[in-house]
Amino acid sequence: MPFVATNLKPRIGTEIRTDPETLLIGRYAKEVRELLELRGAIFFPRINLTDEQQVVFAATLGGVIDLGEKNIFKVTLDPKQSNQAYNLLGTFIWHVDGFGDDVPPLASMISARRLSQIGGQTEFANTYAAYEYLPEEKKRAYETLRIVHRMEATQRDVYPNPTPEQKAAWSLSPDKIHPLVWTHRSGRKSLFLGSGADEVVGMDLEEGRALIRKLMDWSTRPAFVYRHEWTIGDLVIWDNTGVMHRVEPYPVASGRMMHRTTLVGEEAVT
Ligand SMILES: [Fe+2]
Repeated sequence: MPFVATNLKPRIGTEIRTDPETLLIGRYAKEVRELLELRGAIFFPRINLTDEQQVVFAATLGGVIDLGEKNIFKVTLDPKQSNQAYNLLGTFIWHVDGFGDDVPPLASMISARRLSQIGGQTEFANTYAAYEYLPEEKKRAYETLRIVHRMEATQRDVYPNPTPEQKAAWSLSPDKIHPLVWTHRSGRKSLFLGSGADEVVGMDLEEGRALIRKLMDWSTRPAFVYRHEWTIGDLVIWDNTGVMHRVEPYPVASGRMMHRTTLVGEEAVT
């Protein structure tokens, strides 16, 4: 069975050419897990997995989060297709899935089912690389910083004039404090940022937000980013613990539909 891995950019992204059977039997599951951590985002061109096959493949890599609907979450802006559609405009902004969790999801995978004529490409930014390439004095200065993450911050740019109902809904998710620098069990370090990052603990609010903006700009420099241009049947999996992602804006009526499966987190942010 073929299994050919090719790096896409020096600091992020690997393309794997193989066939569905090879993925489903988990023959290269260890290699995929290693590449996931080292390369951030992995692209399987036109692998055309069915929903059932996608879930089986995911289970070769780790625990699968039970999302109902046979563990397939429909990523769509169409409210007729998903009762979460109204929440997804926030995905146009760089973020980490499950940023408010003690143990964020390990990884997510999405398959392209229908594409938008306009926009809809997905970008991934490697936050291991963002940490690694910081100057040493910055690494030292950031080592002890802690960041307040909050749901409202992820929605502020999407809904600049929120209704009281929206504000009430956002406030149901409690604030979460995470270290800026995530020291993983492996000993490697990544920056933990994203659209939820709203305050630096112990720092003046505006000063903290300015630092967060600066770090977001640094972490999403082109050198650390892989932009995926979708073809129907493509599957991309990314390491949610060392990657931020966003989708380029696309029209609500575009019909774009991606099927997502998410892997259970294995490590708290520490
Ligand atoms: Fe996301």
